[in-house]
This record gives sequence, structure tokens and C-alpha cells, in this order.
Amino acid sequence: MATVAMGAAMVTVAATPSSASTVPAPEAAPPVAAPNARVDNPYSGAKVYVNPDWADKAKADGGSKIANQPTGVWLDTIDSIEAPEGSGYETSLAGHLDNAVAGGYTAIQFVIYNLPGRDCAALASNGELGPEEIDRYKTEYIDPIASIMGNSKYANLRIINIIEIDSLPNLITNTGSREQATPECDVMKANGNYVTGVQYALSKLYALGNTYNYIDAAHHGWIGWDDNFGSSAELFASTAKGATGGVETVAGFITNTANYSALQEPYLKITASVGGTSVRESDWVDWNKYVDELSFAQAFRTKLVSSGFKSNIGMLIDTGRNGWGGSARPTKVSTSTDLNTYVDDSRIDRRIHAGNWCNQSGAGIGERPKAAPASGIDAYVWIKPPGESDGSSSLIPTGPDNPGGKGFDRMCDPTYEGNSRNGNSESGALPNSPVSGAWFSAQFKELMKNAYPAL
Ligand code: BGC
Repeated sequence: MATVAMGAAMVTVAATPSSASTVPAPEAAPPVAAPNARVDNPYSGAKVYVNPDWADKAKADGGSKIANQPTGVWLDTIDSIEAPEGSGYETSLAGHLDNAVAGGYTAIQFVIYNLPGRDCAALASNGELGPEEIDRYKTEYIDPIASIMGNSKYANLRIINIIEIDSLPNLITNTGSREQATPECDVMKANGNYVTGVQYALSKLYALGNTYNYIDAAHHGWIGWDDNFGSSAELFASTAKGATGGVETVAGFITNTANYSALQEPYLKITASVGGTSVRESDWVDWNKYVDELSFAQAFRTKLVSSGFKSNIGMLIDTGRNGWGGSARPTKVSTSTDLNTYVDDSRIDRRIHAGNWCNQSGAGIGERPKAAPASGIDAYVWIKPPGESDGSSSLIPTGPDNPGGKGFDRMCDPTYEGNSRNGNSESGALPNSPVSGAWFSAQFKELMKNAYPAL
């Protein structure tokens, strides 16, 4: 899922809902602080949970080099909490937490992803709750999750919760008079249920004591433009201030979840110009202030602190699929004197448009999960598990290949020529993909092949 906003006009780029951290090895993880004593960075010195359900799929598909990496566990329906027989989920929430304790892990990452009217600007990750079903979100989803996470047997785990991918950013860029507005996002803005739901999740989960809430902050190709940057920070701040516990409930923010934006553009600097014209005027950059996630995440952190968040908040960046290695990766700054050629030949992000978000052709595994990799960054994480599809390339009716009744978004169709949310560009999606969340072997193999750093 992902929405993007381009330039003054704003494009909704769909970012799929799309990160984890590893522990530098040798020394054993230090004992976690006493229950209920939060640490500043929950990834520091932590041994982060490796989801065996994902690891088994990765190993079975030639991914033994990465199968030992931590990935996010997505709680994307009410059924995902208990994983009843026939639901398609292998392990319940309590099962993952028990596994983590038994395996000697000290941190575990969940994605809280089931808001009413979910994914209002895209169709591939439409949710099970209707726009008005906020009470069910509270009582049938967040309350049971909080109750299970609150069991004293998990008190020594640092429980990291990624809060509701794409939701608040959608309210900024895909509503009202914006060219990319959708009726569905307008409904969610008007009824207030994204804000109410996020506030409820922050309040309930923070109250547990050993939990860390990270709110989704889209990515540079969505809220990097001036007219989105400040208003997003303000919406995040007003939302958190309305939670019980206020801004204290927020440990930090995550960028690039399930997306493909490059961590760093080594050969394309936002300050560069060609023949006196700034690269910001190129088609690719389109007046954005940022060309990569690291610079965006660090600047956005500063903005968030000035908007009222604690000065020690940390950022996470999902690097699972933003490596952009392989033979198409540029190795130097272009010498072209044509602005667009210069930018296109210099950038490592090989997408057709920065608003493209579904199963991107040519992408590779990015930086391995790592704690405290850069100033202001709590961790590089793999929240979208590599190998899991962003959406199907054609409509798959509800049935064995689509048990959850996932929708079809043409941004996942390689023959689609786009819309205002991706500058009317080709989708750049791989063909023959299964529904979102399902294993997509061809993509997994390409991600491995194009990994950067190489595996
Ligand atoms: C899907 C979820 C899935 C997640 C991780 C999302 O796009 O909607 O169902 O769990 O990706 O793959």
C-alpha cells in the first residue's frame, strides 16, 4: 500500500504497506531491563525475533542466507490474533510470543494493521472492517491484542508495535481538494476513525509498559514535499496528544514500510544541478526536497521533535526491498548535460516513478536489519517480509488462492499505465503475482539476486 504525493500536485503513490533488526553478533544480548522499564532504543543489544513461518518459506525457496533475519509479524485481521484452523495463519499472537521467549529472543516486532476502512487509497490491502466499525476495531482487535501482550510471561520482551501503515499519511495527501483524493479516504477523514483508531492503539499498547509504538510515516516519495512534510508532522502530533499518555506513547516512527525507496542515493544529491538547473526540477525528483530515505527520516525526526514529540524518538527504516543492486545499478554520477538523463542515469532507485509501490521489477534486498545504524535511526528493519506479495497482478476471486477476499489494484498489473498517483506512469510491477501477503517466489528470487549489499 502506499500513497504518494508528487510535487505541488501530489501524487498518491501507493506504498505497500512494507522492515527488523539484528543483533550484532558475538556477545550475548544483555539482560533486558526490569519489566516495565523502557529503554531508549529497544533494538540496542536486542536479539530480535525471527518468525519461523517466514524463515521456513525463505529457506525452502533458496533463501538460507537471509532466513535468520528478523521480520515483522503482521496482525492484519482479527483472525490473525488467534490463528484458528482454516484461517490461513500458521501461528497465533500468543504462539509467536511463546516462541520468542522459548528461543531466547529479547525483542519482537508486530504490525498493527486493521483499521476501519483500511488502505483507503489503494485496493490490494483493503481491510475486513468497514469505515464505521471502530467499535469492533477496539473490542475485537486492539483489546485482545493488548490483553495477550500484557501477559506477565512476556514482561521481559521488548514488544515493538508498528502502528497502522499508510493510514495517517493517506489523510494528508489523498483527501479533500488534492488531485489524488479518493472518496474512501475522504470518508475516513470525515468520520475520524483513522485518528480515533490510532489513538486507541497507542493508548492501550503503551499502557503495557514493555511496548514500543512506532507510527508509520510513509516515505520520502510520499511526504517529502513541503506541503506534506509539515502537515503530516502536525497530524501525527495532534493524534498522539489525543492518546492517553500523549506523546509519551510514541517511541518513534517508521519510514518506507513495504516500499522500495532507496536508503541512500550515492550518486544523486538533492543539492546537485545540471547546467544551472537544480535536480529538484527533474521529472524524477519533481520538486521533492529529498531523494532518499535516510536523509528524509533524519529530517523528519527533527520536524517531529519540533512538533512536540520527545527529543529521544527514533526512526526505523524498512530496508527489506530497497537495495537496488544487480546489473542495472549505476556506479557513478552521470556526466550527461541533460537534466532528466543525468538524474535517471545517476539514481540507484530504478523504478519508473517514485509513486510505484507494487512488486517492483528490478528491486533487491537492502541493508540487513541493524540496530542504531545512523544518527536518529533506531534500526534498519525488515517489516514487510521479503517474498510476500504486495498485491495480485490480476483479479483473483475469493477462493483457495484468495481466502481473505483481497482486492485487486491495477498498480500491481504490469500492463497498467498509471493514474494521477504515479504521474500516469507504467506500474513497473512484476507479472503473475499472488494476492498481498501470499508468497511470491519469482519476486523473492529477484530480490535475492539484486541484493545490495550482495548476500
Ligand atoms: C497485506 C497483509 C500482509 C502484509 C505482509 C500487506 O500488504 O495486506 O495481509 O500480511 O502485506 O506481507
